[in-house]
Amino acid sequence: MNESTNPPENIVLIGFMGSGKTTVGRELHQRLGYPLVDMDQVIELRAGKPITAIFEENGETAFRDMETGLLKELSQRGEPRRIISTGGGVVGRSENRELLKGLGYVVWLHAPAKLILERTGKNRARPLLNAEDPAERIRTLMEQREPLYQESAHLKLDTSGLDCGELATGILECARYFFAQHP
Ligand code: S3P
Repeated sequence: MNESTNPPENIVLIGFMGSGKTTVGRELHQRLGYPLVDMDQVIELRAGKPITAIFEENGETAFRDMETGLLKELSQRGEPRRIISTGGGVVGRSENRELLKGLGYVVWLHAPAKLILERTGKNRARPLLNAEDPAERIRTLMEQREPLYQESAHLKLDTSGLDCGELATGILECARYFFAQHP
């Protein structure tokens, strides 16, 4: 349980791989001074290996279990104000979607498939995109996930044409309003 009786005021970033969650998370962390929790990073640290190795050696289900376990921990721990940057597949489990909503203000960073492909193209650290046809994989996964991001988010932000400073400003304004309405 949260130690405080007030609802947590975390800002939670969700969205597809390459949508900018990590960069925007860092910007929000710098501006607000709230601790930054990058879920992928925490999972890698705890497992003592990169995500690609977790997928290869333990399987995707084991990785998803680690994600759910971490979300549960974050829901229970006392710290009420954090910036939480999630992995792109965190919305896959309904249990996770429930947990996300309870954590605070959930922002969906949206980017078109073409931009996602450009951003993720050179990076081999994302096992789900190490496919024969990454563009097709992105389109399929996006189609499956968009309704889940929609269901989980309080705010959808189209990131096209905006830099991370502009996105952070937009998120902060909207979050302030949200938390004022949900004291
Ligand atoms: C995943 C996204 C990755 C990471 C893992 C699985 C996904 O995080 O959690 O490779 O299923 O979309 P990013 O969204 O930070 O790339």
